[in-house]
Amino acid sequence: MSLFAIGDLHLHYQSTLKSFEQLHGKVWKNHEKIFLKSCTKVVTENDTLVLVGDHSWGRNLSECEKDFQYIADLPGRKILTRGNHDMFWDARKTARLNEQYQPDLTFLQDGYESYLDYAIVATKGFTFEGPFYLDYTGKIMGWDEESENHAKKLVEREIKRLRQSFEKAKGDGYRKFILFLHYPPTNILEERSRFTDLAEEYDVEHVIYAHCHGESRFHDSIQGEFRGRTYHLVSGDYLRWIPLKVIGE
Ligand SMILES: [Fe+2]
Ligand SMILES: [Fe+2]
Repeated sequence: MSLFAIGDLHLHYQSTLKSFEQLHGKVWKNHEKIFLKSCTKVVTENDTLVLVGDHSWGRNLSECEKDFQYIADLPGRKILTRGNHDMFWDARKTARLNEQYQPDLTFLQDGYESYLDYAIVATKGFTFEGPFYLDYTGKIMGWDEESENHAKKLVEREIKRLRQSFEKAKGDGYRKFILFLHYPPTNILEERSRFTDLAEEYDVEHVIYAHCHGESRFHDSIQGEFRGRTYHLVSGDYLRWIPLKVIGE
């Protein structure tokens, strides 16, 4: 019984693919088939597979049905968390999604799912990614304050959601946590953030995130051991479509 994670499948069985990267990048060629094959090889029916956002390019549920079917057909218990491209998923209507798709798919937002004695907590997160203004040496001279203020509000909303989820799990007796974010926990300028601070406050063991695509973005945030927690980037192209085993034998 193991816990696996991967993000950013960006499926498009019923929607139009417009991403230049995905249309032309070598790593994206036949990625659905490659992932299905690797998943079938490493994940068993007793395992849990967390899909860390950006599931589908579909703009609404009817454009996602085949993508969901693809995910439902993967082995194990499937838990989906929200990504920035998941237009079909209104956070306030998560209960409705679960009514419709459980037990095949579990949509996790505001609350927790259990895995052994761990509580899995998830939200989309947010990182302010600029724009930053750089001088000719690459030194930061300033940034867009309006966007930064907007980003701060989004971060506060996400932190509030996470705190409520952690408290709910704690109230139910959980003491061990795994945190899933879609966005990286820090931006390229930060060493720490509200998300890393919260992970420390609740003594989270693993922080897992996705969203970063392409060689130049893979090292935008923390990876490995940092201040007592382990951080993992699990975007599909980074993992070359092999799900990461987070916990298990
Ligand atoms: Fe993505
Ligand atoms: Fe994303």
